[in-house]
Amino acid sequence: MYTETVNFLRGKGMIEPKIALILGSGLGDFADKIEDATRVPYEEIPGFPVSTVEGHSGMLVYGKIHDKQVIALQGRFHYYEGYQLDAVTYPIRIFKELGVENLIVTNAAGGVNEAFEPGDLMLITDHINLTGQNPLIGANIDAHGPRFVDMTEAYSVSGRQIARDAAEAVGLRLQEGVYTWMTGPTYETPAEIRQVRIIGGDAVGMSTVPEVIVAKHCGIEVIGISCITNKAAGMQDTQAHDDVVNVSMQVKPKFEQLMQELIQRI
Ligand code: 6GU
Repeated sequence: MYTETVNFLRGKGMIEPKIALILGSGLGDFADKIEDATRVPYEEIPGFPVSTVEGHSGMLVYGKIHDKQVIALQGRFHYYEGYQLDAVTYPIRIFKELGVENLIVTNAAGGVNEAFEPGDLMLITDHINLTGQNPLIGANIDAHGPRFVDMTEAYSVSGRQIARDAAEAVGLRLQEGVYTWMTGPTYETPAEIRQVRIIGGDAVGMSTVPEVIVAKHCGIEVIGISCITNKAAGMQDTQAHDDVVNVSMQVKPKFEQLMQELIQRI
């Protein structure tokens, strides 16, 4: 299946992307900044996961940011939607086959660290997987990567420095912290958020970790950015998806500036 997908995308001219972008909830508009763009809806891509709901699930966008060839997922596949993790992470394997060396993965997340405010951007320094799930469970395909994957530097040390430098260059405050993956679709209880804080999580979300695991498996360097859209349960009155979307829309100019600068520096 990989071969069919890769051949199809190469046929669309997606020849040599070096940087892949995954754009999280409310952050997808950055794909509109891609120049000389080729856009393909997921449902037209052979082998891509089929949407579990009516309507279109997203768009694969290929083109240039600052003369760098990028490939972007505008809309991702979430585990809570009912996709298996091999479907959630399918695009990562395809990115690798197309020659991608760096992945910038983004998401909307709830702030657990008391110092974080809605609208902050957080550089992901590490993650905690609280789901008990892992996309690499099952027979290992040795051609893809090793059976046992070193996650010591899941988020590239040099990539993190590039992100800090990029944030400084555009004059924005970049928080840093540990992203905690929960399956969703429920938000957490206040007790779960206290647990996350005690074990060292700074933010919580429903994505990203499976894609990062597969990227590490196949040797793609990862930079992760969370948009803190709200304070997590127990730190504000209620949790609402509308807040998540509204705040990430407000953060858009800041986020886009950071992404532009970051891509230029990779
Ligand atoms: Cl508070 N929790 C989770 N799991 N995902 C989120 C969130 C919270 N806020 C935005 N996304």
